[in-house]
Amino acid sequence: MVTASAPGKVYLFGEHAVVYGEPAVPVAVERRARVTVEERDDDRVRVEAEDLSVEGLVVEYEGDLAGATEAATPERRAEAATRYVGEAIAQARDAADRPEAGLDVRVESDIPLGAGLGSSAAVSVATVAAGVRALGTDLDRPEVADRAYRVEHTVQSGGASRSDTFCSTMGGAVRVEGDDCTALSTPDLPFVVGFDGGGGDTGELVAGVRELRDRYEFAADTVHAIGDLVRRGVVALEAGDHGELGRLMDVDHGLLSALGVSARSLDAMVWAAREAGAHGAKLTGAGGGGCVVALDDSRATLRALELTPECEAAFRAPVAEEGVRIETESETEDGSTPEGEP
Ligand code: MEV
Repeated sequence: MVTASAPGKVYLFGEHAVVYGEPAVPVAVERRARVTVEERDDDRVRVEAEDLSVEGLVVEYEGDLAGATEAATPERRAEAATRYVGEAIAQARDAADRPEAGLDVRVESDIPLGAGLGSSAAVSVATVAAGVRALGTDLDRPEVADRAYRVEHTVQSGGASRSDTFCSTMGGAVRVEGDDCTALSTPDLPFVVGFDGGGGDTGELVAGVRELRDRYEFAADTVHAIGDLVRRGVVALEAGDHGELGRLMDVDHGLLSALGVSARSLDAMVWAAREAGAHGAKLTGAGGGGCVVALDDSRATLRALELTPECEAAFRAPVAEEGVRIETESETEDGSTPEGEP
C-alpha cells in the first residue's frame, strides 16, 4: 500500500495563454491531494474519494471508467475529478506494464475542486506516483509529470498544458512554455487566496477561449499579450520585485477578463484585495468562479477578503517547495520496497 501526496498551485501569470504555447508561471502552494493505492487480487478498480465536494463518493469498475461515473456521480465537478483518477490509474497500469492490475484507490484532498488551485493536477500526479509504486515500478519526476499531463490532456480533450502537472510534480515556481518546463528559484511570495465557494469547468472554459481566439484577431492578440506579460513577470520574479509582480498580476486579470473567463465574484474579490492595498490580484486557473490570488505581506488583504460577501474563505497560501512525495509505503508482496524518485 502506497500513499503519495502532491500540492496544488496558483498561477502567478499565464493561465489559458499557456495552452497556445505562451509561457506561464504557476507556483505550488501548501494544499495537498493525498492518494493511497493498494493492489487487489482481482482486476477491478475501486475509487473512494473524500473531500471532493461529495460525501464519500465510491466508484467501482472493471475495464475502463467510461459509463461508471455517469451512473455514480450527479455532481459534475466530482465526476470530472473521478475521470482524472481513472485516467491516472490507466497511466500507472500502462507505465508498470500491468494493464489488468486491480487496485483500491483512496483520494483525499484539501484543495477545492475546479477552483483554480490545481486540484485535478495534484490528484493526477499523486495517483500516478502512488499507482506505479504500488505496482512495484518507479518513475522519475519528469516521467510522473509527463504521465499526469497525458491524464489532463485526455480528460480536457486536448485543451491542457504541461503547466499544472509539472508544477505539482516539482513544487516551487516553474516556467512552462510548450514542452519546455523549468524550475525557477522562488523568492518570498506572500500569497493570499480568496475562494468564492464555487468553480468552473476547465474543459469548457478552455474551449470558450479557443472559440474566441479563432473568431477574433484581438482575442488572439490578447493571448500573445499575456505571453509578453509573463516574460516581464519572470524578470520581476527573479528580482523579487513585488511591486512590479503586482502590477503585472492586475494586467493579467484584465486580459483574462477580456477572454471571458472572469466572474462577478472573482472581480469583487480582486477589487477588495486591490483596495486593501495588495500589490496586485488576479483570478487563478481556468476561472469562471473559484479563487483569486493576491500578493500582500500585510494582514489587510486577508481581512478585506474575509469581509467580502462573495468570498466564502480566505487564507494565506505559503509556497510548497516540495512537489510530489511518497508519504507512506508498506512492503510489496515479495517483501521488497521499490527505491528511487519520487
Ligand atoms: C487550468 O488550471 C489552467 C489552464 O491554462 C489550462 C491548462 O493549462 O491546462 C486554463
